[in-house]
Amino acid sequence: MRFPRTSVNHRLSAQATTLLLPALRATLPAALLLILACGAPASDDTATTAAVPAPTGDNMLDVHSYAKPDEAVVRHLDLDLAVDFEARKISGRASLTIDTSAGATQLHLDSRGLDIAAVFLDDASEPTTFALGEDVPLLGSELTIEIEPTTQVVHVDYATQPQAAAVQWLDPAQTAGGQHPFLFTQGQAILTRTWVPCQDSPGVRVTYSAKVQVPPALVAVMSAENQIERAPDGIYTFDMPQAVPPYLLALAVGDLEFRSLGPRSGVFAEPSVVEKAAYEFGETEEMMAAVERLYGPYRWGRYDILVLPPSFPFGGMENPRLTFATPTILAGDRSLVALIAHELAHSWSGNLVTNATWNDFWLNEGFTVYLERRIMEELNGPEYAAMLTLLGLQDLQGQIEDLGATSRDTHLYLDLAGRDPDEGMTDIAYEKGYFFLRMLEEAVGRERWDSFLKAYFDRNAFQSLTTAGFIEQLRADLLAGDADLTATVRLDDWIYGAGLPSNVPAIESPAFVKVEAQVDSWAGGAAADSLAADEWTTHEWLHFLRSLPAELDKTQMQELDTAFEFSGSGNSEVLHAWLHHVIANGYEPAYPALEAFLTGMGRRKFLQPLYERLAKTEEGLAMARRIYTVARPSYHSISTTTIDEILNWDAAS
Ligand code: BES
Ligand code: ZN
Repeated sequence: MRFPRTSVNHRLSAQATTLLLPALRATLPAALLLILACGAPASDDTATTAAVPAPTGDNMLDVHSYAKPDEAVVRHLDLDLAVDFEARKISGRASLTIDTSAGATQLHLDSRGLDIAAVFLDDASEPTTFALGEDVPLLGSELTIEIEPTTQVVHVDYATQPQAAAVQWLDPAQTAGGQHPFLFTQGQAILTRTWVPCQDSPGVRVTYSAKVQVPPALVAVMSAENQIERAPDGIYTFDMPQAVPPYLLALAVGDLEFRSLGPRSGVFAEPSVVEKAAYEFGETEEMMAAVERLYGPYRWGRYDILVLPPSFPFGGMENPRLTFATPTILAGDRSLVALIAHELAHSWSGNLVTNATWNDFWLNEGFTVYLERRIMEELNGPEYAAMLTLLGLQDLQGQIEDLGATSRDTHLYLDLAGRDPDEGMTDIAYEKGYFFLRMLEEAVGRERWDSFLKAYFDRNAFQSLTTAGFIEQLRADLLAGDADLTATVRLDDWIYGAGLPSNVPAIESPAFVKVEAQVDSWAGGAAADSLAADEWTTHEWLHFLRSLPAELDKTQMQELDTAFEFSGSGNSEVLHAWLHHVIANGYEPAYPALEAFLTGMGRRKFLQPLYERLAKTEEGLAMARRIYTVARPSYHSISTTTIDEILNWDAAS
């Protein structure tokens, strides 16, 4: 089969970012080592799979956090904050309710760029002693607070800095309405510590409550129970009664309106966007019902979606009870709502059962892609889901090619020590994770697999899990001493091995075969407007675009653009796939569309491959740098971090 990868759709190229690690391992208390060792994988007694280095207990430590939860662990977080748009500052008090083990004298928190004014214990009027450690790139500073044996609540008075990485402050011009400023936070993976002092590890869970003061014209929403009415005094209160890892804390403030989608769901967006969003997400209740049929109840009360301004750096973020979503999925025809299925699915995989460390990221994303495709299959049938799966397989193959088939970064179980956990955000976690689970499904049959999965979510609900912990449960339950089955599935090759094991399931899509035939006939001389493409879905168009020859001359590009109006497409995925050809073939008539796309939104998944492609030629690089000069101020720091590197951008200049 012919799949020239026109779009390198990987989520993040390997970055050479290094960071100094705090001397955590050296100071690891024996008690924690013991806890960690208990989660070590069972030895492989079948002797049929390759001997691979299994993770040691030590690997399970979260190397991206200063927290020492075995000494004192935060259980509840109460925020009392004010949002100051002029000063670009969030300030107030974080009150952390803790559980302390006998003899502990300190609470260790993560913080990065926070101005800590004072720390108080319980009702004391005199502050306690605290120390801020060395500021390590990405990890920030350890905040060590002296506590008493009886301490229950630690109050931290603090303020954020204008450049806090989790927070994006938007000028009115960067919003749809153009009248009011906007603010949103993005916590995953280790950014929450830039706006809240906390134990910023996915292995720690907190319930939270918050009171947030915003300018009276604006509305505040959080990843919690939201009030739907506007507060005339600008004071909003929130409650999140389920324990969540700190990366799921989220706040947005703007001129927001709400539309109900059904009894349990709704959408928040700027007034000019909310109607379109309400139509686009009209299948949300159906999606919720579909996952519940498969994998048990939705345990978070309501499920709402917040549509952000276009600079939101991701497609979606699964903030509990309130998914944050890019407006680039508002295609007008509901064709890109698999993203909503994905973020909704995180209510089971990720938010309910959470990766214990960022090395276990595939437990979040691989399971979520699996659930996402099952939801799409429930709603639209297996042929539709197969198209999504094949596009995912193409992405995965391209990703493995980019990383190198033997790269350590192609293992499902990652080793991100000393690196930005963002580097784990590749198609390996998402798509290799998906195909691993799909392989398991096919090995045991859907019925057994689904009941295993449902039990898995029940058993691990509101807990964090390591890869080793998952494998242990898989062996004990699904594989239950079946040596043949254990040999067939080749767990170790998938989890601790490179590339794509040969038992990857085969995916067939008759629809895509037809698309390939149309590509062939066009390449063989048939006119573009004679192709049988009238009924194509977005996914067929994407396959068409990805399957086109890499080299196209100006006449061919012109013919395609005239016949199918790709340059004017209102579908961000289609436009993105087309723009790859535009760059690769220097198709100048579409440069204005390219420039408008790059300056009009900040979604890294689109920006990164386009800038990468531009940077390949001298002329392209010059164009990229010119566009970036204009666009950079409107991008989120998550995106600029990536693009700066691609363009060798000196942010200081
Ligand atoms: N949780 C991720 C986004 C994320 C991952 C943010 C790691 C920061 C660090 C979210 O669920 C996600 O995967 N979003 C995807 C869309 C999805 C349909 C694959 C995205 O934003 O592209
Ligand atoms: Zn996800």
